Amino acid sequence: MEFLERERRKATGAAPSPRPLSVYFIAAVGSLGGLLFGYDTGVISGALLFLRQSFALTATTQEIAVSAVLAGAIIGSLIAGWLNDTLGRKKTLLLLAIIFIVGALLTAISPGLIFFLVCRVIVGLGIGAAASVVPVYISEIAPPQQRGRLVTFYQLAVTVGIAVSYWVDLAFAGAGLGWPPMFASAAILGVALFLGMLLCPETPRWLGSKGRWDEARAVIERIKGGQEQELADIHRSLSEQQQQAGVRELFTSHLRGPLIVGVGLAIFQQFVGINTVIYYAPTIFERAGAASASSAILSTSVVGIINMLSTIAAILLVDRLGRRPLLLGGSLLMAAALVVLGIIFAHNGGHIAGLTLATLIVYIIAFALSFGPVFWLMSAEIFPTRVRAAGASISSFTNWAANLLVSITFLSLVEALGTTATFWLYACFGVLAFLFSLRLVPETKGKSLEYIERYWENRPLRTS
Ligand code: BGC
Repeated sequence: MEFLERERRKATGAAPSPRPLSVYFIAAVGSLGGLLFGYDTGVISGALLFLRQSFALTATTQEIAVSAVLAGAIIGSLIAGWLNDTLGRKKTLLLLAIIFIVGALLTAISPGLIFFLVCRVIVGLGIGAAASVVPVYISEIAPPQQRGRLVTFYQLAVTVGIAVSYWVDLAFAGAGLGWPPMFASAAILGVALFLGMLLCPETPRWLGSKGRWDEARAVIERIKGGQEQELADIHRSLSEQQQQAGVRELFTSHLRGPLIVGVGLAIFQQFVGINTVIYYAPTIFERAGAASASSAILSTSVVGIINMLSTIAAILLVDRLGRRPLLLGGSLLMAAALVVLGIIFAHNGGHIAGLTLATLIVYIIAFALSFGPVFWLMSAEIFPTRVRAAGASISSFTNWAANLLVSITFLSLVEALGTTATFWLYACFGVLAFLFSLRLVPETKGKSLEYIERYWENRPLRTS
């Protein structure tokens, strides 16, 4: 196609098109939003030790300091749909990059707790919005056969961000510099996102939805591997749906299918208890009899690295095996690991930290191969173009709200029910997640976004 285009331009004397862009470059830039998500949620764990002294934090204010970013993310995910549709994917990401930069720098100079909390809510706004916008941006740019892999880059970036935040915390703590540079460092990622997005295009689907077809065509031509056919597909699917009811349309019966899938996957991704592991792993290892705090932290970093490596495996598998086998296998394996974890705690007799680590590794591998990447991927590919941003935003909102609920109830649940029953409760959600995926989640591997749209029209819910 590139060759034909060159010939056409030669014949018509048209100006040469700008340099072709690789979808991998675009996905990598977009994924910086995921890196910020991982970094900004993970950084608090190490920073907390220093914040405690600076702001004389109590148990309650510590919980508030941890959750502030989640509260911001809930709000951010809600406004993301509107921003994404009004400004477009590209301008929204540029705006979010500015929020990340300003938020990071202001957090680092916080003179008191209230100022700090406000800054964390602002950073949270950016994270929550980016979590809905980036998957949509990448999914609308990617060719169908690579979409799974490319959107999973985003989840990889989240896991890298979590691991990096842990090492950065360790480095600044070791250098005696305390919490300010831990937060300020995120500004570097914000600048990279801003500069990278300046080089990236708007998506052809958003341009098409605004009637800017010439620009949509130019973007498709510029992206390596882009196909002429794509423009016709986008055109057809947008013109078939004249009446745009906006967000309200999401709640009408013909879109019930994707809404249930998006919201259901969002809830299950959190209710299997992933963030009790991500945020509280050192506590879990201590309770399991880790020899010292530092061996508990070391075990945590192992979990972080396994999370990253398994997400790389997911990138290789998601477009080959498909989404459903990963969801089905992953949910069962997570449920099994959680049952074993409960048993380990029921027989809390001493040298079991090694066994706990092994079980948590199985759990994290299962999560990173399934619900970790597949939720974000499907939330960005199952909704029709005209409601994609709003649908992804509602799914993301549900995910952040569920995240907050699990994170703030974990320690209380352990107090009230005991560690064993708490893990078994999450195991039950693992089984429900399996049944949900089996009955309701369609396979989207290799299908164009327009094909998926038609699927829901003919079959509002998967029934077999
Ligand atoms: C989840 C986060 C989680 C992370 C762990 C993401 O997909 O949304 O809540 O902390 O995975 O890797």
